[in-house]
Amino acid sequence: MIQALRGMKDILSPDNERFEFIIETASRIAKRYGYQYIETPLLEETALFKRSVGESSDIVGKEMYQFIDKGGHDVCLRPEGTAGVVRAFIQNKLDKKGGINRFFYYGPMFRYERPQKGRLREFHQFGCESFGETSVYEDFTIILMIKDIFDALGIGYRIKINSLGCPECMPGYRKNLIKHLQDIQDGLCEDCQRRIETNPIRVLDCKVEACQNLLKESPVIVENLCEECDSDFNKLIEMLKSHNLPFELDSKLVRGLDYYTRTAFEFVSDEIGAQSAIAGGGRYNRLVEFLDGKPTPAVGFALGIERIIELVKMPEAKRDGLYLGIMEPEAINTILELAHIQRQNQKVYTEYNKKSLKAHLKAADRLGVKKCAIIGEDELKAGEIWVKDLETKEEKRIAINQFN
Ligand code: HAM
Repeated sequence: MIQALRGMKDILSPDNERFEFIIETASRIAKRYGYQYIETPLLEETALFKRSVGESSDIVGKEMYQFIDKGGHDVCLRPEGTAGVVRAFIQNKLDKKGGINRFFYYGPMFRYERPQKGRLREFHQFGCESFGETSVYEDFTIILMIKDIFDALGIGYRIKINSLGCPECMPGYRKNLIKHLQDIQDGLCEDCQRRIETNPIRVLDCKVEACQNLLKESPVIVENLCEECDSDFNKLIEMLKSHNLPFELDSKLVRGLDYYTRTAFEFVSDEIGAQSAIAGGGRYNRLVEFLDGKPTPAVGFALGIERIIELVKMPEAKRDGLYLGIMEPEAINTILELAHIQRQNQKVYTEYNKKSLKAHLKAADRLGVKKCAIIGEDELKAGEIWVKDLETKEEKRIAINQFN
C-alpha cells in the first residue's frame, strides 16, 4: 500500500474543521488590519531562497526540496513564504510605485527536517508581509494583530523579542562576537565552530548545553545597537508594556532565517512540547534591495498551523443544514429537486436509498443537521413531506411546495 511520505500528513476530520477555522479567523483579522490576499507559486528558483533565507542557514543548507526540472532549471519547493512574496512584490513593480502594501497568504511549506511532534516536512503557514513602512509602530501593530488572532482562536502564548540591529551597528557587533567565539572555539560544537565563519550570530541560539554555558559571557546585541535601532527597540518595549502583552527579552533570539534587521520576535506556547514556536517574524529592511528591488522597509510574520491545531478552542458546534431521505423509491425525484432548491441557501445531504425512518433519523443525527425531512408512503400520496427539527424535536407534515 502506498503511504504518504514521512513528515507529510493528510488533514481529515476533526482537524480539517480546525484548519479552516484558523485560516478563516486569521484572514478575517488580517483584512481588518489592511492586508490583502496574495498567492505565489509553491515552486521557485533555488537562487531566490539562497539569496534571502541565506546560504548558511539550515533551511537552505540542509532542508530544501531541491531539484533540476525538465528544462534544466534549479528549482525548489518553497521552505517559507516571505521570499516568494518579496519576489512577487518586485516582479510586479510595486517597489517602484511606493506607498504601503500589505499581503497575507497561507499554504504549504516544505523543509526536509527530521520529523517529530510539531515538526513536519510539509507544514502549513499563515503569514503576513507589510512593505513600505519604516515606523516601529508597524512592528508593534503586527504583534498586536498576532495577539488578536491567537485570542480569537483561544490560544495562550508568550512573546520573545530581540533586536538584530542594522548595517550600521551589526558589523561592529559581529566583529566583537567573532572575537569572543574564537576565544571559546574549542569548547563549541562542530556546527558552531563552522558558524563562526559563516554566520556567527546563529551560534547564539545553539541548543547544545555546552555551547550555551560558554556563551553566557558573549556580547549582547541589544547592548550594542546604534541610536536609531536602540530607540526603536525601546519604543517597541514601551508599547508592548502599555498594552500588557506577555513578552520577555531574549538576547539569544536570532531566528533561523538570515534576512532580519531590527525587530525579531517569536510567539511560543508552553503546551505543545519541544517545538514550541507557534509564530515567528520580524523586520527585514534589506531584503527587497537584496533581491534587486528598490530599497523598501518591510516587516512580517508567519504562524505554523499544525503547531496550533490542537490548541484551538472551537466555537460550540451548532446543528446546521438539512437531511433529505425517502422510504419509497418513487419519491427520489421529488427529493432531488427539493435538495437543489434548498442548496441555494443551506447545506443539504440527500440519501438516495430507501431506508426506515429510524435509520434516516440516526444518519441525520450523525451528520449534525438541524432538520431531517423524509417522504414515506403516506406523504408521497398526499404530496407532502415529514419534517423533524432535531434541535427542538418538533415534528410536522407539510405540503412539499410549502417547504422552506
Ligand atoms: P519560521 O520561524 O521559520 O519563519 O516559521 C514560522 C512558523 O512556522 C514557526 O514559528 C512554526 O510555527 C512553523 N514551522 C516552521 N517549521 C515547521 C515545521 N517543520 N513543521 C511545522 N511547523 C513549522 C518563517 O518562515 C518566516 N517566513 C516568517 C516571516 C514572515 N518573517 C517575516 N515575514
